[in-house]
Amino acid sequence: SHQQHVSIVEMAPRDGLQNEEHFIGTADKIALVDMLSDCGYERIEVTSFVSPKWVPQLVDAAEVMAGIRRVPGVRYAVLTPNMKGFEAALSARADEIAIFAAASESFSQHNINCSIAESIERFRPVAQASRAHGIPLRGYVSCVVECPYEGAVPPANAAKVVALLRELGCYEVSLGDTIGRGTPEAVARMLAAVLDEAPATMLAGHFHDTSGRALENIDVALDHGLRVFDASIGGLGGCPYAPGAKGNVDTMAVTQHLAARGFSTGLAQDKLRQTAAFARELRSKS
Ligand code: HMG
Ligand code: MG
Repeated sequence: SHQQHVSIVEMAPRDGLQNEEHFIGTADKIALVDMLSDCGYERIEVTSFVSPKWVPQLVDAAEVMAGIRRVPGVRYAVLTPNMKGFEAALSARADEIAIFAAASESFSQHNINCSIAESIERFRPVAQASRAHGIPLRGYVSCVVECPYEGAVPPANAAKVVALLRELGCYEVSLGDTIGRGTPEAVARMLAAVLDEAPATMLAGHFHDTSGRALENIDVALDHGLRVFDASIGGLGGCPYAPGAKGNVDTMAVTQHLAARGFSTGLAQDKLRQTAAFARELRSKS
């Protein structure tokens, strides 16, 4: 029988490290990406070109991008909040860029210092430039079910931002349970609304695992047809602007869960295990 493929987008170098309090050396960041490059991923999110005042950990984004070994077939992606970030991503030869919006106004203000509507206007030239340069554009929507400042987020709000990102030309929109407190019921309601605006083939699930329900939420998303999930080796991560939020769902836990359900990810378990050990070591060093 032919297994269905699920694609895992690896988050550890970006979402995983961005919240670490102590600075992780550039060489260690590069080593992490290089180990991940041998695991069989199609996409690795390497870093962010954001303000170093907002995310000091990723101040060395350009050096990391310049230092990694590029394995053919792997796309090395970066986050870009505005044109300044886009220009840096272009210089760094990013294979893919991501713009990041939110379904809650307070999170948008806390995370990128502007309203949702202002963020969409700021992303417009980024989207145009990425199209002009032939760089695939991904979108994120944070707080699709829960906001650290506003609580439960109405599904219609998430759906509206998905529609806006789709209009901007994102080939895929990743749905973020930023604080990892979404219940499977809330995720199902959110997906029902979002699927009115975009097909499952254009959506990814991005579950943080604060409440330990990320795998259940992945199951709900699988039932709704999603086949792309963001995960972080070693379960590293958290957002500095989402107080109390834990890391992304652990890549190894996801791959094992998917395998048990008959889905293949193409990721090499032994290599993942070695990389997970290295990732945890980076954290304990700090
Ligand atoms: P701002 O202060 O409003 O920006 O911040 P500004 O345009 O007024 O510029 C202020 C300063 O930042 C200037 O420097 C700019 O040059 C600089 P100064 O003149 O003061 O020396 N600046 C930049 N520097 C480097 N790269 C740039 C850049 N842009 C401006 N691209 C801004 C607005 C968006 C820049 C800021 O709020 C920011 O960087 N925020 C990023 C926050 C962030 O990275 N959060 C984590 C990622 S999102 C996430 O984790 C969620 C996700 O995982 C999904 C989920 O879980 O939900 C994706
Ligand atoms: Mg995240």
